[in-house]
Amino acid sequence: MGVKPSTAKRSGRDTVLVLDFGAQYAQLIARRVREARVFSEIVPGSISARQIERRKPKALILSGGPASVYQPGAPECDPEIFDLGIPVLGICYGHQLMAQALGAEVERGRVEEYGRTHLTVVSEASVLFGDLPARQSVWMSHSDAVVEGPKGFDVTASTPHTPVAAMEYPERGLYGVQFHPEVSHTTHGQDLLKRFLYKAVGLRPNWNVVSIIDSAVEAVEKQVGDASVVCALSGGVDSAVAAALVYKAIGSRLTCVFVDHGLLREGEARQVERSFRDLFGRNLIPVHAGEQFLSALEGVTDPEEKRKIIGKTFIDVFEKVCQEQLDDTQFLVQGTIYPDWIESGGGGKAAGIKSHHNVGGLPDVMKLKLVEPLRELFKDEVRRVGTDLGLPDEIIMRQPFPGPGLAVRILGPITGERLALLRGADLIVQEELAKRDDLDEDLWQAFAVLPGFRSVGVQGDGRTYGEAIVVRAVTSLDAMTADWARLPHDLLDTISRRIVNEVRGVNRVLYDVTSKPPATIEYE
Ligand code: XMP
Repeated sequence: MGVKPSTAKRSGRDTVLVLDFGAQYAQLIARRVREARVFSEIVPGSISARQIERRKPKALILSGGPASVYQPGAPECDPEIFDLGIPVLGICYGHQLMAQALGAEVERGRVEEYGRTHLTVVSEASVLFGDLPARQSVWMSHSDAVVEGPKGFDVTASTPHTPVAAMEYPERGLYGVQFHPEVSHTTHGQDLLKRFLYKAVGLRPNWNVVSIIDSAVEAVEKQVGDASVVCALSGGVDSAVAAALVYKAIGSRLTCVFVDHGLLREGEARQVERSFRDLFGRNLIPVHAGEQFLSALEGVTDPEEKRKIIGKTFIDVFEKVCQEQLDDTQFLVQGTIYPDWIESGGGGKAAGIKSHHNVGGLPDVMKLKLVEPLRELFKDEVRRVGTDLGLPDEIIMRQPFPGPGLAVRILGPITGERLALLRGADLIVQEELAKRDDLDEDLWQAFAVLPGFRSVGVQGDGRTYGEAIVVRAVTSLDAMTADWARLPHDLLDTISRRIVNEVRGVNRVLYDVTSKPPATIEYE
């Protein structure tokens, strides 16, 4: 087995809190801080100075946000956070909030500065810029601007349209930048964040994701005591890594149930079962319930209805296994990761969970208590933990795959024949991609979709009226936004030829060239 039970001790750690003012950038900031090897967490921008004090963070970063500080109802921060003696970096909206709270003027609609801009460092004594180049490219996205630094602040950088592009008051530990250091278009953005963390705050880069394993293991031991724990494995990375962590903590008191809903890709159920058998040995219960899911889905075409049926059937199957074989179990492991948790209202600004993301699906019904050992981790960090725990690449490097499986890629009714047709086409996409090593490494997912319309074609001497297949491939860092992958034309050509030649009933292949937003990655 790749995972050995352990008894490590938890260690304290320095934490940076990222105050979320509503832009999608808060997550990115938190990730960048962790890349600089300092632990970070996202909290709502409305957190009070007292609440912050209780958490004892080493620094605060105020994120950007879409609002104008003058807009009625715009998110505010507790002005006392600037008097806590905890260093603060304000970014974009956060920079303006800080300036406003400390008595400086923020002028509304002063500029329209969006995209790449040239920044000039105007102070040699700047802590944030230090030895970074005096002229650099930064990414801007604002129309309001700080007109002059608040009392006591030095203006350290400007752009042609923004006089106070950066300001600082090192004696009070307060720093503000109008641009976005967290985005890759800001050439020295990560260097600047590191200077804030290491030079301005005095932190050391000593956190790494693997160090979370010991504390997570200890937290699981403490939470579950002598009880038994069950984990529903989907075949995805998150549930596998969560199970491996719990296994490391409590060994054979963990039982894993792999529900094969029959909606996986070609050969996947067998492969997943084999990998999990290697990891969890006799503690794995595989359940092949494809027929039950298919009959529950018979004749259903509405996407939400399909999801509900799949969710309910999953619970029925899982519950039955638990009742029949695991009746003394008290805890359920879930592979909830940090972005799921924030999105479901756990951390920063509650955006409301999408109905299809399965946070908190099982426990109400089953009265099991939740164990969520990955709740602090981003996806790439989960992968690293998984590798460190000895999980094989075939699990770790799998593309994210939706819980309801191929059902969200078949428009219209789901039947055994239509599933087989989609599997055939999808296998060709996977095989052809696997042959290439010249593809964009940000490729997030690539798959086939059965859109369910027929069109006229000609094959041999005859006219056909066949199904179409859509090929979808996207690049993304976290699936929140995505772009269509610029796959080489010869690759698309091979995929298309093979699909129409090898998959009976298909006479047309389309490539989806839509980004997210406005489209989503999946089709239903
Ligand atoms: P969308 O389609 O919302 O997908 O752009 C974003 C990411 O989430 C995955 N996805 C799902 N995952 N259950 C899941 O566990 C679902 O119902 C579901 N729908 C979409 C999708 O594959 C992509 O990675």
